[in-house]
Amino acid sequence: MPADLSPIDKAKFVAAKRAVEFVEDGMKLGLGTGSTAAWMVRCLAERIKEEGLRVVGVPTSTRTAELARQLGVPVTSLDDAKWLDLTIDGADEFDANLALIKGGGAALLQEKIVATASDQMIVITDAAKEVAQLGAFPLPVEIIPFGWQTTKALIEEMLVGVDVLDRDVTLRMNGDKPLLTDEANYIVDLHLKRIGNPRQLSLVLNQIPGVVENGLFIDICDIVIIGYGDGRVQVR
Ligand code: 5RP
Repeated sequence: MPADLSPIDKAKFVAAKRAVEFVEDGMKLGLGTGSTAAWMVRCLAERIKEEGLRVVGVPTSTRTAELARQLGVPVTSLDDAKWLDLTIDGADEFDANLALIKGGGAALLQEKIVATASDQMIVITDAAKEVAQLGAFPLPVEIIPFGWQTTKALIEEMLVGVDVLDRDVTLRMNGDKPLLTDEANYIVDLHLKRIGNPRQLSLVLNQIPGVVENGLFIDICDIVIIGYGDGRVQVR
């Protein structure tokens, strides 16, 4: 374990290290995005260096692609790999059904495509992200820039009819400009406080013209690995 890690980084590191133990020689892997997923890429690079593990990764963002290349983790495109054995990624929230909110790092679209194209998805997280009901973390929704204000208004209108506690929708900014995703889209964050029916919300969101994808991952995650600041790990 790297020395002098804060408790939160230690939690992320031990979860990532445990997840990388699921990787077998010859696997095609989805490489998630975010600070926890970055630990996974580092742990994977170590196994490649020390054990000569032969794997190839499909990164879910330009950030992850850069990190993987820097550390000597072979990368390819999803079109090249076609189907993956395992994706390891972080999350912003998870519940008892292993439903997730993702997209805090604005990479939800590639993350969902890659995780869906995998036999198995493992989420690595710290304990603070476990919730009884999803929704305290604002739900990211990727929308196309064309007519974005109309799309945002349609989302707001749709939210009136669903079981949530709050209905505030904000455009995610990068300084004084809208943040652009890797696919050159915008993100709106839905401040809902509590999502009564995540499956229904995901379906209705994706029916709105202009919505590309939403950050609810339902029936996609198979295993959650929770790391703790004292070095303990729990696999669910
Ligand atoms: C990026 C994501 C991340 O996995 C999520 O935001 C968790 O990030 P971190 O591990 O930094 O807390 O969904 O789009």
